[in-house]
Amino acid sequence: MPDLSKLPPDFTWGVATAAYQIEGAVGEDGRKPSIWDTFSRVPGAIDNADNGDVACDHYHRWPEDVALMRKLGVQAYRFSMAWPRVIPDGVGQVNASGLAFYDRLVDALLDAGIKPMVTLYHWDLPQALQDKGGWPERATAEAFADYATVVAGALGDRVTEWVTVNEPLCVSWIGHLEGRMAPGVRDLGLAVRASHHTLLGHGLATQAIRAAAPSPPQVGIVLNPSPCEPGSERPEDVAAARRADGHTNRWWLDPLYGRGYPADMVETYGHEPPVHPGDLELIATPTEFLGLNYYFRQLVVDDPDGPAPYARQIPVPGSMETAMGWEMYPSGLSQLLVSVSETYRPARVIVTESGSAWRDELTPDGEIQDKERTDYLEQHIDACAEAAAQGVPIDGYYVWSLLDNFEWSYGYDKRFGLVHVDYDSQRRTIKASGHRYANLIAQHRQVT
Ligand code: NOJ
Repeated sequence: MPDLSKLPPDFTWGVATAAYQIEGAVGEDGRKPSIWDTFSRVPGAIDNADNGDVACDHYHRWPEDVALMRKLGVQAYRFSMAWPRVIPDGVGQVNASGLAFYDRLVDALLDAGIKPMVTLYHWDLPQALQDKGGWPERATAEAFADYATVVAGALGDRVTEWVTVNEPLCVSWIGHLEGRMAPGVRDLGLAVRASHHTLLGHGLATQAIRAAAPSPPQVGIVLNPSPCEPGSERPEDVAAARRADGHTNRWWLDPLYGRGYPADMVETYGHEPPVHPGDLELIATPTEFLGLNYYFRQLVVDDPDGPAPYARQIPVPGSMETAMGWEMYPSGLSQLLVSVSETYRPARVIVTESGSAWRDELTPDGEIQDKERTDYLEQHIDACAEAAAQGVPIDGYYVWSLLDNFEWSYGYDKRFGLVHVDYDSQRRTIKASGHRYANLIAQHRQVT
């Protein structure tokens, strides 16, 4: 049982989702394709050849999903907007009906007493921008700022919390270096360019939101850092862990907090990011919060033949693994929260995602007794309490995810939801972990 009294009284309890993973309705009301519509058509790219065409049909069922959140008693909902719904070609013409969907959602959330936290970019780049080169091109960061201006102007009277980019690491390294995510590119030089432009996009969008939002916004970026440890005491493995740390953590945090790109990593990559005068200042624009998504630690060994950073993750002996094959390691979360806060001194830290996939089974009564997910949740919340007790300015926790959904290249097989989705009937069922989360939220109110 987590010690909830260690968390601040105004701690925010939330749930999170992302547009392409839940919305479906990919061809409706003027939305045009994103890079995920394209990538999910590539043979072999996605398990079971799944795609987001229908997903959780949230585009039509959002009132039911808001009601579910109300039932869970969550105070906040982090969701992302689909850029190709709002500006279908990435630049130019704004699609009023696409924007209207989010407008209705925001109103319904506020009516239900749930605070919206809006992510502008959760990986669904308009395909039209990819056709012009995508994130390796500077113009994409500039287009992103224009999109931020449109959205903040339309919703900024009611939305106060904004996330610019979700996990630029995945956009850059997994999308452009490993090729396991859209756009499926494998090119280190392009990946380094993409990494700079996602960070630049963040800086430009931060300023755009501040200029366009009618009420003073809280803006942040969401990163997915992980503790990186050597798989052995061999000097090669110790050096590999340092590179993995650079690749996963420092490459993002250093420039965001005014330290520029880490020189050791520029050397490792052998590619300079395409920095123009003023870019580093833009990237280091002060923000109101830092969002952290946490899932696992990395135990690594030297791997000179692998892709940059030439460090290969190995399984942790004896560890308990989720259905993703990720080690369940809650103390990594407190460790990270403490070390990131001490090193970079963000104004506030929010755990913008934490959650786990398991092989859920429906009982004959139609229930999901997901004890592992419940344990996972309790232990990770306890890790937050621990970090708060150590002085980390943490003020929110968002479970990934409200619903089972489209888990990118793993398709629908991996279920992260507090709420089970039967994809044939689109029936939603709150899992035992969802009930437990509701319970924890209520208990926290009592102890503080
Ligand atoms: C982080 C991503 O932001 C989210 O989209 C994904 O589903 C979860 N990790 C789980 O892999």
